[in-house]
Amino acid sequence: MDNNSKQLIEKTRKHVKTASKEEYSGHDYWHIYRVWKMAQTIAKEENANQLTVQLTALLHDLGDPKITSYKTASNPARNWLTTLTKDKELINEVCHIIDNMSFRHENKSKSLSLEGKVVQDADRLDAIGAIGISRALVFSGYKNNLVHNPSIQPNLDMSSQEQKRSESTAINHFYEKLLLLKDKMNTSSARKIAQGRHEFMEEFLDRFYKEWEGEI
Ligand code: ADP
Ligand code: NI
Repeated sequence: MDNNSKQLIEKTRKHVKTASKEEYSGHDYWHIYRVWKMAQTIAKEENANQLTVQLTALLHDLGDPKITSYKTASNPARNWLTTLTKDKELINEVCHIIDNMSFRHENKSKSLSLEGKVVQDADRLDAIGAIGISRALVFSGYKNNLVHNPSIQPNLDMSSQEQKRSESTAINHFYEKLLLLKDKMNTSSARKIAQGRHEFMEEFLDRFYKEWEGEI
């Protein structure tokens, strides 16, 4: 990668670190950092454009409407990139991915470019395994939800899941989303990593229920 691109990335990393200082819902700087690193690895294996992938990974969560007051997820990314580069194509590509990569936009994400698929995979990998479990628990606490309540069933209907989110629990979130992610990976690089992380979540749930019943 040329020096100019490296500088764009480093400036963006610093910007994102500052911008996400007050973030406690599991979308903090270290989530972004892990997605950024993982996206680099996958991009290398899949021959995706590193500049697009890295900028998108760094900026992908700054405007998530779920955790910020932005209505369009890419707004803060666009604002930032406009101060940084005149490359409109690059800015539009990064923003298009950010607006279409979220779990909620599953139908739209079919139109993602290779770079979009890479960042989406890296983001999804951070939602599963030991780190994914930790983040689900943190997010639940952040939303004042319980870890588990046996009288609340998982809601597998995605359209109404959005509305019913407030009634859900961390454990239900595994069935509503986390256990489904393994089969939704776009790239074979991510699929390989997802397998081990998926198995660990199954082990976790198995133990969780046994401990809940006092069996072990
Ligand atoms: P995306 O960015 O693909 O839309 P989310 O923002 O929904 O994904 O998820 C980000 C993180 O927050 C993930 O680790 C996910 O497990 C967690 N999370 C989202 N919704 C819930 C929920 N209802 N309960 C527990 N964790 C959640
Ligand atoms: Ni993310």
